Amino acid sequence: MNYHNPSLTVISSEIIPGAIRWRSPSNIALVKYWGKHGNQLPQNASVSFTLSGAATDTTLRYKSRQEAGESVEVALLLDGTPNSGFTERTKAFLEKLLPVYPFLKQLSFTIETSNSFPHSAGIASSASGMSALALCLVSLEEELFEPFADRAEFLAKASYLSRLGSGSACRSVYGGAAVWGKLPGLDGSSDEYAVSVTESLHEVFKNYHDDILLISKSEKSVSSRAGHGLMEGNPYATARYAQANRRTDEMLSVLKHGNVERFGEILESEALTLHALMMSSHPPYILIRPNTLQVIERIHRYRADTGNPLYFTLDAGPNLHLLYPHAVAAEVKQFIREELLYFCEDKMYLADRVGKGPERLEVNE
Ligand code: PMV
Repeated sequence: MNYHNPSLTVISSEIIPGAIRWRSPSNIALVKYWGKHGNQLPQNASVSFTLSGAATDTTLRYKSRQEAGESVEVALLLDGTPNSGFTERTKAFLEKLLPVYPFLKQLSFTIETSNSFPHSAGIASSASGMSALALCLVSLEEELFEPFADRAEFLAKASYLSRLGSGSACRSVYGGAAVWGKLPGLDGSSDEYAVSVTESLHEVFKNYHDDILLISKSEKSVSSRAGHGLMEGNPYATARYAQANRRTDEMLSVLKHGNVERFGEILESEALTLHALMMSSHPPYILIRPNTLQVIERIHRYRADTGNPLYFTLDAGPNLHLLYPHAVAAEVKQFIREELLYFCEDKMYLADRVGKGPERLEVNE
């Protein structure tokens, strides 16, 4: 799909100022995207659950600009306070979108954004943040030009724009589960945007839990962007990309049939493989912390002792996501409180679930 459209321009003087607001959630990859090429294209397919509680709420305010400039005019407020770092990043993202949306330089934007989780929690907000902004932009396109033929087209475009901001963000525009990356066995799948696989999700996964254990809230020593870059010289890269494609295929079958044990085996192997790739990069680096391993050992012991299907995964950082079915929620939460919180910074964890996806909200005046 080529979304570049030089004809999407406006007559600035005819634009009535307006505002659009979306809340978009974060997602947790079950099979990981790690390694990219070209313009934010993935080296392998990935599949994720979209979360419910961890989300970004973004309001995009727009008005006409007397004369179109060469660059985009934008100011960003995080939790009501101007934030120059986020403003620069957002400006760079919007300028990257100019071939898709030339009208962006004819308007002036103020973006108000806030996260449902504390900014200092050590949780990446790029997936929820970029998808919330992309959804606002596609709604703006509908307001200024024509509505999309259907919701699927609307969401595919929002996913495409999100991807250009942050790869994994493209999976957040759908509730339930989403796949990003071309898979021969999955009709409609693409490297350019994610597709929903929620319809074929087994009942047990529809309300699956994901409790996020905050092992450390410190800034990561190596960013995801740098990590993706280091995959280029990684000696295991080719084998990894093939493995991830096979696993995404298998995970789709597991998600359909509800096999929570096989789900967990793939989940944990994916987490450890991701971090093994970091440790085998040049230069090598380690993002897990001693307490990450303490918790992993206890989860393994808990599983052996109780038989409960509690499994973990990791993002590109030390924090653990604990995934389990609703049927064992009371027991698992007791285990987390009694045995795992000790290993978390400030004894913090965020209780989350598989969610229904982004929501358009009324704008607060
Ligand atoms: O979307 P990025 O560039 O921040 O990369 C995120 C990669 C992982 O979170 C580690 C895996 C994934 O697929 O989300």
